[in-house]
Amino acid sequence: MYAQLVKTDSDRVRGLDEMSAEERAFQERIDRGEKIEPKEWMPEGYRKTLIRQIGQHAHSEIVGQLPEGNWITRAPTLERKAILLAKVQDEAGHGLYLYCAAETLGVSRDELIELLHAGKMKYSSIFNYPTLTWADIGAVGWLVDGAAIMNQVPLQRTSFGPYSRAMIRICKEESFHQRQGYDIMMKMAKGSPAQKAMAQDALNRFWYPALMMFGPSDKDSVHSAQSMAWKIKINTNDELRQKFVDQTVPQAHYLGLTVPDPDLKWNEEKGGYDFSEPDWSEFFDVIAGNGPCNTERLNARVKAWEDGRWFREALVAHADKRAAARIAAE
Ligand SMILES: [Fe+2]
Ligand SMILES: [Fe+2]
Repeated sequence: MYAQLVKTDSDRVRGLDEMSAEERAFQERIDRGEKIEPKEWMPEGYRKTLIRQIGQHAHSEIVGQLPEGNWITRAPTLERKAILLAKVQDEAGHGLYLYCAAETLGVSRDELIELLHAGKMKYSSIFNYPTLTWADIGAVGWLVDGAAIMNQVPLQRTSFGPYSRAMIRICKEESFHQRQGYDIMMKMAKGSPAQKAMAQDALNRFWYPALMMFGPSDKDSVHSAQSMAWKIKINTNDELRQKFVDQTVPQAHYLGLTVPDPDLKWNEEKGGYDFSEPDWSEFFDVIAGNGPCNTERLNARVKAWEDGRWFREALVAHADKRAAARIAAE
């Protein structure tokens, strides 16, 4: 299977005959569908790639709370407020499972957070876009959590045990998130003309950023082939993006909304939609730190971390005191 995955020289997956005995045994376990557990031998590249991927995923869950947290106090009804609050809390939980999964690879949560705050680790570019209206909360749940599910469902079968198990629970919660988003969109799209216009505007602004969530086109994506051989990645970016479009377009039609792509067309032969690629220069620009909210998001995270410092220190001091008291009593 590796031969088919070879793409370019710089992103070449080595054949079994080029591997050491340890590496070969490792690859064979993955090919048999076995899970790799934290204490077991793994190539350094596998460990590093997973730390980067799981860490980035954890950061995305945490930073992803910010655009939605922005609307908790302004949700239109008590019920919507309670639902949104529960959803944002779920995202915090997802972040914590994922930091724990990364910790099993030998990196602490504090180290990962420091890397994020120093701008040395990324989070999903989608969270650098603002949520301007209540309809945006609908669009985020529908499209952003929808794209997240598309990315994460295959990861339930990923080769690293703790990551795959975290994904199983996370995916269950994500499907609730997507439904709550779609439910908001239904209310808005079937509401007054002004509400429908807000829903359409939210779709217009979030459509392409949602398509960008699957990452660059396969031809420009680095690390893919090796990650697929290691089953850290199960589908290519373009495969997942196509699946997302095919699933989402009929949902937009049901809402009576228009997908902002004049070239969107059903292609009978391929059994999917033809659609326009996002503007990749915008994607790389946002990744590079120049999106509308990059600075605001990072500042909010750094402030939360600094504001919580006294509390973390107090917890440690309290634990130390109790331990000292226990020793003195023995
Ligand atoms: Fe999540
Ligand atoms: Fe979510």
